[in-house]
Amino acid sequence: MRVTMIGAGYVGLVSGACFADFGHDVTCVDKDAGRVAALNRGEIPIFEPGLPDLVAANMRQGRLKFAADTASVGSSEAVFIAVGTPSRRGDGHADLSFVYEAVREIAPMLSNTAVVVTKSTVPVGTGDEVERILHEKRPDAEIEVASNPEFLREGAAIQDFKHPDRIVVGTSNPRARAVLEEIYRPLYLNAPPIIHVSRRTAELIKYAANAFLATKITFINEIADLCEQVGADVQEVSRGIGLDNRIGSKFLHAGPGFGGSCFPKDTTALLKTAQDYGVPMRIVEAVSAVNEQRKRAMARKVVAALDGSVRGKTVAVLGLTFKPNTDDTRDSPAIPLITALQDLGAVVRSYDPAGMEQAKAKLETVVYCDSAYAAAEGADAVVIATEWEQFRALDLARLKKSMAQPVIVDLRNIYRIEEMKRAKFRYVPVGRTGVE
Ligand SMILES: NC(=O)c1ccc[n+]([C@@H]2O[C@H](COP(=O)([O-])OP(=O)(O)OC[C@H]3O[C@@H](n4cnc5c(N)ncnc54)[C@H](O)[C@@H]3O)[C@@H](O)[C@H]2O)c1
Repeated sequence: MRVTMIGAGYVGLVSGACFADFGHDVTCVDKDAGRVAALNRGEIPIFEPGLPDLVAANMRQGRLKFAADTASVGSSEAVFIAVGTPSRRGDGHADLSFVYEAVREIAPMLSNTAVVVTKSTVPVGTGDEVERILHEKRPDAEIEVASNPEFLREGAAIQDFKHPDRIVVGTSNPRARAVLEEIYRPLYLNAPPIIHVSRRTAELIKYAANAFLATKITFINEIADLCEQVGADVQEVSRGIGLDNRIGSKFLHAGPGFGGSCFPKDTTALLKTAQDYGVPMRIVEAVSAVNEQRKRAMARKVVAALDGSVRGKTVAVLGLTFKPNTDDTRDSPAIPLITALQDLGAVVRSYDPAGMEQAKAKLETVVYCDSAYAAAEGADAVVIATEWEQFRALDLARLKKSMAQPVIVDLRNIYRIEEMKRAKFRYVPVGRTGVE
């Protein structure tokens, strides 16, 4: 099948490379000409494990191409839209301008029987508007519009794409349905459930999934706060509830609050949709508000660990990305944590294995270092903000020797209390009693 993917970002590039790997003939189109040139030179503009090899192999075999123009659209049976849908400045609605712009660009090129598939996360009813634009521009064509939301996680994107828990196909049109079934046919061996639903239902499934996961994280974060007050251990509570199959153990790790390119903007956009339809969504409202407050609360935790003030002190923040194995710092909790510490007078040093380039654009006055140990030099406290593998087994003796004070604030709970006692650190975890 000939496929064009509009947008070669985290989702478009991974989806395009995986579709090519399934055997389809894929062109990924991006309006960022620099990105396309880099891809054509074999350089991968994002950090995603396994992606460079997958892209190289499929380029070599001629199934994956990159272009800055939409010429490939005309011969494609399916055209996926995978452009960004960030929060709109000012009101928090999903900004759909990239989606509609892409649709207007491809409209004149589409074949008369093309299927346009929205993979971007878009509010309910966006598919109707895409359809309206296409019918307006191509009144004689029989172009179909379907929704196929994406559930991959950055850092495990290829595995998620090739072994999805489910594939959601939103269309009531038999031809569009057949095209999508053909595209995903290579996955049938793994037998993931394909959920055939209406376009609007598919659009809502994506927001409901993200809002639910954000709720789970926020729930355990509030339980963590209670644990700290009553002397309980949130990790044991998580295990104790997560082993119940009705609850499940995933997304029950207490931490600095959810971030990333999806949960914050998608919970906000869902609230906006709900408001537009006059439907109160108090749970999601609370989740969003609680998570927002948590950002600066994490800075206060660092202040408390340093006896009430960080003014003139040096704090080493380990991790800038919103989770490990990605270079994505969009809405990472490390960013407001650092700005809050700087507002309070701290000098912040930092190291992240993949996220420093992106972070530099947002945080100019941070001292960027080339290792965790270099960041910790002369620091009054080390704060673990992202649970990268390489932060899990730091040489504590070496760390302590180079620090001004032996203080670790572990916002990801990756160390054992006993270990910290032995190493004689003041240790402040989340939702557990630490070491004084
Ligand atoms: N990142 C994730 O983990 C993830 C997971 C599931 C769903 N999503 C959703 O997928 C969508 C894309 O997210 P992303 O993280 O890949 O975004 P991204 O910002 O990484 O990539 C978007 C790309 O689209 C390009 N683009 C924008 N307008 C274009 C146009 N008219 N023509 C060609 N290219 C254009 C941009 O240059 C950019 O490279 C969003 O709706 C997001 O919510 C993201």
